[in-house]
Amino acid sequence: VLGLTVPTDPQWVRAALRELSPTLIDHAHCELKAASNALSLVTRYPDDTPLVTALTALAREELEHFDQAMRLLSARGLTLGIPAVNQYAQRLRSIAATLPQRHIERLVLVDRLLVGAVIEARSCERFKLLADALSGTSATSAQPDVELGQFYQELFICEARHYRTYVDLAKLAARAGVNGGSNADTDAMVEARLRELAMREGEIIRELSNNMHRAMIHG
Ligand SMILES: [Fe+2]
Ligand SMILES: [Fe+2]
Repeated sequence: VLGLTVPTDPQWVRAALRELSPTLIDHAHCELKAASNALSLVTRYPDDTPLVTALTALAREELEHFDQAMRLLSARGLTLGIPAVNQYAQRLRSIAATLPQRHIERLVLVDRLLVGAVIEARSCERFKLLADALSGTSATSAQPDVELGQFYQELFICEARHYRTYVDLAKLAARAGVNGGSNADTDAMVEARLRELAMREGEIIRELSNNMHRAMIHG
């Protein structure tokens, strides 16, 4: 799925559905963080109009998802609470600094956008697993919940689009400032960087699932 190198262990879906309340709470936090991460990039790169426009729209959608997730929580009598430490995102963000330096323009921004892309890809993969399990179309569906399944189905489509937005913005960022050299060459470098990050993301997912205490959307 979307360049991910390690597929999610089927155990994850079982754990996520077994502890549905913590999963929904964690998911709500993820949507809020997705919105605030997009807005922090807008604040950081205010002169980049294509980036500002695309990420403002993306943040609006993430906030909409957060709102939907909050409605699900309150319908179940749950509150948002303080988020658990998100090791996945923390580690993923620090990885970029450990990758070999590349001659890519605006590499810091490109990496931040590509990390965003990888997180979207993983969300997309897992929302699809939840959607299938909840709608009763996969082997893991113990107790189908068609409405919740539909919710994850819609989100899965959105997150796939967000993945594409982040990759496209990373390519645009890398192209800006490149004199000579073709766009195709620059795009190829960005795609190679994305593959490097996806490899490392796979290692994180493997490690986190080995020490899984409970299912988190990214853990
Ligand atoms: Fe979202
Ligand atoms: Fe998203």
